[in-house]
Amino acid sequence: MHIHTTIAGLRAARAQAGRVALVPTMGNLHDGHIALMHAARQRFGIDAVIASIFVNRLQFGQGEDFNQYPRTFEADCEKLAAAGVDHLFAPNEAEMYPQPQRYHVEPDPALVSILEGAFRPGHFRGVATVVLKLFNIVQPETALFGKKDYQQLMVLKNMARELALPIEIVAIDTIRAADGLALSSRNGYLSANERVEAPRLHRQLAAVAEAVRKGARDFARLEAEALAELEQHGWKPDYLTVRRRADLQTPEPLAESLVASSLVVLAAARLGTTRLIDNIEI
Ligand code: PAF
Repeated sequence: MHIHTTIAGLRAARAQAGRVALVPTMGNLHDGHIALMHAARQRFGIDAVIASIFVNRLQFGQGEDFNQYPRTFEADCEKLAAAGVDHLFAPNEAEMYPQPQRYHVEPDPALVSILEGAFRPGHFRGVATVVLKLFNIVQPETALFGKKDYQQLMVLKNMARELALPIEIVAIDTIRAADGLALSSRNGYLSANERVEAPRLHRQLAAVAEAVRKGARDFARLEAEALAELEQHGWKPDYLTVRRRADLQTPEPLAESLVASSLVVLAAARLGTTRLIDNIEI
């Protein structure tokens, strides 16, 4: 695997690389990321896989974990090489932001004022801005993102469509531990006891999803019960809510045209000091 720390170096390699799939990451790689690398390798017609590692200051709010965010570069490189990644782009901050970033991607307010966006103002603006910049640097044919960050995926898909980017955005299913916990770099913040408790978030989502699949339409009651269950076990939930997959807005439960498979249930909740997110497509 070739490691590039400068935009010029990456561009020179990319010019020889044929059709490229890009997997952007912030490092601290786990099996969820590695699944993205394998999926990239298997995309039809792709000649080279390029991963990026960059902890993007722009997407962290005041008081969030930018400074604590785990940086595990050596171990990440080993995992990427073992996964058959051809090139790694790992710029430092001076390379990505040689001056304060004054031009930004402003995502659709209707999409980024809800769910994660309501609790992390500016987060998706930072994500969209760095991802567009990575796209401009790497110029991939395809880019892959995990469904665990469901709203992020939608922000990026809509960005690619509305800005006519010549890049296919591919969504890859969430990878879970055997007990259901969605793999996440932030799981590393959990204490041993919290790690035992953590799969409850997935269990509550799965219970709501199952009830809706079976025909329940009283979303408010289902949500309230799941939230109460989390709170009883020491969680501080930000939201647990059934939404339309198409735009993440609240569905009209009594609409005749409403089918369960058009819905997704999403949650974010704090366990101790760790904020976890997860979702299930119903
Ligand atoms: O999902 C992530 O790890 C980040 O938000 C991304 C897409 C790499 C942008 O920094």
